[in-house]
Amino acid sequence: MLYPLLRKALFQLSPEKAHQVSMSSLHFLAQLPGGKSFLKQQFQYQGKDLSKKVLGLHFPNPVGLGAGFDKNAEHLDVLSLLGFGFIEIGTVTPKAQAGNPSPRLFRLPSDQALINRMGFNNEGVEAITTRLKKYRSQNQSDLIIGGNIGKNKVTENEDAWKDYCINFKGLEEVVDYFVVNVSSPNTPGLRALQEKEALRKIFSELQLLNKNKKPILLKIAPDLETSALDDIIQLTKEINIDGLVSSNTTLDRTLLNADNQKLAETYGAGGLSGKPLLTKSNDVLSYLHKGLESNTPIIASGGIFTGEDAKEKLDAGANLIQVWTGFVYEGPRMVKNICEYLSSSHH
Ligand SMILES: Cc1cc2nc3c(=O)[nH]c(=O)nc-3n(C[C@H](O)[C@H](O)[C@H](O)COP(=O)(O)O)c2cc1C
Repeated sequence: MLYPLLRKALFQLSPEKAHQVSMSSLHFLAQLPGGKSFLKQQFQYQGKDLSKKVLGLHFPNPVGLGAGFDKNAEHLDVLSLLGFGFIEIGTVTPKAQAGNPSPRLFRLPSDQALINRMGFNNEGVEAITTRLKKYRSQNQSDLIIGGNIGKNKVTENEDAWKDYCINFKGLEEVVDYFVVNVSSPNTPGLRALQEKEALRKIFSELQLLNKNKKPILLKIAPDLETSALDDIIQLTKEINIDGLVSSNTTLDRTLLNADNQKLAETYGAGGLSGKPLLTKSNDVLSYLHKGLESNTPIIASGGIFTGEDAKEKLDAGANLIQVWTGFVYEGPRMVKNICEYLSSSHH
């Protein structure tokens, strides 16, 4: 009930500043006496009926936080208090990189959307692994942690597989599953790695390293042509891809209202997320689910705000869902709201 007010205040700040302020406030609240139990009681869904086993892992509920929200794994303790069943850290690259110059994140409130061209700003695999080791040693929670991995901007596409392998070796001990991100629009040329032979190389090299059989998923763009989706479906039948994350942000600005299309032009390049992405990402999800014949788990991402949105994804074949932009607009009770809806609709 309070969040619309809080959101109004936060939206006075730049989006990146608002993100920092929200996270610091959450850390502050959590360390007050009784703070953790207050947050848990307010925001965590306590029922056990939504737990499920996917990818061989036990998820307390199917609602996760998408990659890019906690890129450096700095906020897992407080984000888990908000009830997420799983959190995907990253995108992590081998070397630390600053990302694109600011401003690089924009709000489009009348469409409940965001545009970003962050460009994989992150502290690099070593620093992030060290932080995760510390987190693991201090916390016995049932939170599932995914490691979303990418390549450095300076790495040529033909050498990209080496970057994915470096990330894999670094993070293997500290994450529960991996996501190969070849679908961000903000690293020049990255999306070309969604091509069949490039994927075959990356996945076969990763699986050679994967002695402990950690699930390795592929995250795709919603802008792929049907023929490219067919290639990916075919590839999952030929080689070992444990699941898909569908989808990343879109380049399609026609999904915005006319005013925002003009505004978006002034913002420049970037991926669009939030409400306008829902239908488009659902279409891709349905197509993949039908093609895969239920053999490959799918984590659905794109435009989820409400329990109804989440159920639509699950009904279209998703095994798990992830939120990002919706969390900015809906606030900290979002996960609980979705879980309560799913529970009452007997998903
Ligand atoms: C600011 C921002 C940064 C993101 N960074 C990443 C990232 O580093 N890696 C990634 O795979 N996806 C990233 N994403 C994409 C989200 O994980 C998600 O797939 C996408 O935003 C669609 O979901 P949504 O409509 O719920 O936001 C980012 C999204 C936003 C808004």
